[in-house]
Amino acid sequence: MAADFSTRVRNLPTLGLGISTEFGAGAGGLDPLALRALRPDYVGFLEIGADLERGFDSAAEAWIASGAPTTYHFLDLNLEEPTSLDTASMRETAVRARRAGAAWLCGDAGLWHIGRRDRGHGILQPPILEPSSVDAMADSVRRLRDATGFEVLPENPPAHVYLGRMHLLDYFAALAERADTGLLVDLAHLAVYQRVMGHKPLEGFDRFPWDRVVEIHIAGGTPFRHAGRTFIDDDHGTTLLPELRDMMAAAFGAASNLRAVVCECERHPIPAVLPLFTSVKAAFDASAAVRGSSSETPSRAAPMATTSIEGDMLAPLQRTLFRCQMDPAFARRWRGGDAEARRGDGLSPSARDLLVAASAEGVGADNGGRRSAQVLGNVSLECSATVALAMDGGRDSGFVAEFVASPEFHGAVMADAALPPAFAAYATARTSGSDDAFLRAVAHLERALVEVRRMPDGTPPPAGTFGVSPAVAVVSVPEGTLDGWLAVLDALRAGKLSKLPRAASGVEDEYILLSKGGSSGAFAPPPGAAELLDPGTAALLRAAAIHPLSEEDIAALARDHEADPADVRGLVDSLVADGVLVYGGTP
Ligand SMILES: [Fe+2]
Repeated sequence: MAADFSTRVRNLPTLGLGISTEFGAGAGGLDPLALRALRPDYVGFLEIGADLERGFDSAAEAWIASGAPTTYHFLDLNLEEPTSLDTASMRETAVRARRAGAAWLCGDAGLWHIGRRDRGHGILQPPILEPSSVDAMADSVRRLRDATGFEVLPENPPAHVYLGRMHLLDYFAALAERADTGLLVDLAHLAVYQRVMGHKPLEGFDRFPWDRVVEIHIAGGTPFRHAGRTFIDDDHGTTLLPELRDMMAAAFGAASNLRAVVCECERHPIPAVLPLFTSVKAAFDASAAVRGSSSETPSRAAPMATTSIEGDMLAPLQRTLFRCQMDPAFARRWRGGDAEARRGDGLSPSARDLLVAASAEGVGADNGGRRSAQVLGNVSLECSATVALAMDGGRDSGFVAEFVASPEFHGAVMADAALPPAFAAYATARTSGSDDAFLRAVAHLERALVEVRRMPDGTPPPAGTFGVSPAVAVVSVPEGTLDGWLAVLDALRAGKLSKLPRAASGVEDEYILLSKGGSSGAFAPPPGAAELLDPGTAALLRAAAIHPLSEEDIAALARDHEADPADVRGLVDSLVADGVLVYGGTP
């Protein structure tokens, strides 16, 4: 039988005070190694925030190369959705964490992406604070721990709204018990939670198993107003909320197994963060004498709510919440009981009650619209020429923003479909009535490219035939579209947004071969994956797209086009060599 937490925790190293980083944060902010050189007592370790898509940035690599201690903070594992924790991503996370020399894994416990992993799906959603979510999360924590061999510390995520009837600390207490796990308590996130729920800063502290807490996070936040209420943006600023002082003293004193404290301030220059470290270190040192001296029995079970929404309601509830957050008009209709708005949300009456009970202001809170803008920027990125042409001169200023009100957006979220293709479908629908033929053609082209990038690997064509690879597509657009599109992309890269080149669309069609290209995955920036086809090749590929071509079909095609059969056969071979056609094997 595996050792229990109280045994395992003895093998975890004490890292002391440290700092966190996320991909790209060092570029404009803090150099962790420089701060460590200056104040080794402030920076005993680096918490590397990473996802599998982007990996480690140069600042993280430099730290790893120095051999100094680290922890691995995942930014992409959905602990509330055990089904999304696939073997491959758990294995790869372990490989990277091991390479970084991480002492353990940690990360916000909830949803890092809505639905699938794809560009624009990256959000951070806290768990639904209900017993059924505790069960799902505990399952994930155990599986991730078993699969990786690392201790896994779930962290309480930040939010402006929380659904569910458990207090956040009771939720994590129950999770610790169910998963027999240690915890990471982010005191800044907790302070925000206590405020939005109208609780006192130390509410729930007395019934929380502090001996489970291995790591604590501290960060500054920035107040902002929304709908007449004050919310706190967890922006990792350098000014702590006033209640953090009491919260630190209580938490530091009670956390008898505390191994690490992180000051999250990765986007600020060193002089700006020194006072923050000074105050956290003072609080940490002051509590050292009392830490662990409590004679209270550790791991007291938290009171578990007796009722819960059904486990299969967690996903639809998170998706409906996301739709409400992105589309305020929808949120109003849904909350008002509009049958059309609620159709297809998949929610049981008790699940609906949780969302109705949540604060409407909290659902809508988004400091400066940044979260929404980030999602929209990401989902529309692969249609950047369409967007730029449509918005040119302010002709259609709501082009991107109004995606969230579209059936394409809501349908994709509910169906767990990818959002970039949904945006592309919306963009082609919105431009279909335009009298600008070039805009229509570019929308068609970009949509086809978005789709081919996400095409799953297909089954091979029948033996003895040549089929079109699922990694490519052929589109026909008016002559001049490809050159015009590339010119628009060049202009966008050069920042020339005001005077976009416009191609006059020809009368004849041109055929374009689109391919997935060599990109590492769906998140990668668009590769140069479009090329013009000569009419003969286009005809061959279009025929093969209708049904895979046998040798007889190829000979017939040559006859129909009055071409030399040997030339056509040679073309087929070269297309196979280029991966455009796939041969189904020997009959
Ligand atoms: Fe944190």
